[in-house]
Amino acid sequence: MIFEKINECHHKSGKNSFSSTSKWIRKYYFPSYGGTFIDCTFGQGGYSKKILENKKNKVIALDRDPNVAYHSSSFIKKYKNRFSFHNLKFSEINKLKTKNLKGIIFDLGYSMNQIKNLKMGLSFKSKGKLNMKMGLNNFSSHDVISSMSKENLVKVFKFLGEEKFSKPIANRIIKERKNKIINTEDLINIIESIKPNKNKKINKSTQIFQSLRIYVNKEISELINGLINAYNILPTGGIIVVVSFHSIEDKITKFFFNNYSKNENSSRYFPETNKNNIYFNLLNKKPIIPSKEEISLNPPSRSSKLRYGIKIKHNCDFSELIKKFKYLIDIEDLKF
Ligand SMILES: C[S@@+](CC[C@H](N)C(=O)[O-])C[C@H]1O[C@@H](n2cnc3c(N)ncnc32)[C@H](O)[C@@H]1O
Repeated sequence: MIFEKINECHHKSGKNSFSSTSKWIRKYYFPSYGGTFIDCTFGQGGYSKKILENKKNKVIALDRDPNVAYHSSSFIKKYKNRFSFHNLKFSEINKLKTKNLKGIIFDLGYSMNQIKNLKMGLSFKSKGKLNMKMGLNNFSSHDVISSMSKENLVKVFKFLGEEKFSKPIANRIIKERKNKIINTEDLINIIESIKPNKNKKINKSTQIFQSLRIYVNKEISELINGLINAYNILPTGGIIVVVSFHSIEDKITKFFFNNYSKNENSSRYFPETNKNNIYFNLLNKKPIIPSKEEISLNPPSRSSKLRYGIKIKHNCDFSELIKKFKYLIDIEDLKF
């Protein structure tokens, strides 16, 4: 299951010693009586399937993409009352009723099925009208590109995509949209004509696509609210696991776990961590990253990072987390 995957990943990457963590996890997360796990990002069900291999476990799966219900129906047939699926955004995880909850898993980003579905417009191979909606959205990237002001487009590209060429790309979009509807190919052509050919490994449109996808799907506020609400519904001793996909997600996840746990590395000359602020027991401060073999088998996994923590306290205040990333939440809230 996910914890074996964590274990495997550790051993392969050789980045962290995992033997003590692995024993700890076996002791607490493979008890003979099992437990309930929430898979916040069901996708094709890889993680849920692993968890359900233990017949004592139950899974409550969520996904915002309504197409995913198709995969979940075979799980309902096979695992019956050990499995349920909800077409829900994970920021609303607190709406679920749970019993004997042991862990909550977030595998962020999008699935191979979503990439292959060219109508969703997440792939650079997509053609036609811009989209990028993952499900349960209010607007698409077509609406953003055809109506957002130049100033706000620059902010979206710069802060959500970390794109250096935000201004010239936004200028060109404003100019071209006066004469035509900008579709996916047009947007890619605009980006390619502006950006120099520096890094041939990364597609030139990666950052602009990322920024639009984050904005359209409100991924920053989804993640922050999802993590806080997950924490609130989890009993102490439960685990939260997050696999992030891009650097902004990892920054948020790292702050969520590391800022609210004991700083084991701090020097004795540094002030003690505020004891009221310790909400997690972290078995590893560093993320687990995929091995070279895993990356060669599954190239999109190259940017993924896995972090996890055990909840040790109730009634916690996450206002520092919200304050730290408010500048990104504000960009997601920009109107057009
Ligand atoms: C990387 S895939 C998950 C793959 C899955 N772990 C598997 O083994 O097949 C991410 C999934 O999360 C879903 N997702 C992304 N953001 C979400 C959100 N805020 N709420 C619920 N589901 C979300 C996507 O629709 C996608 O299906």
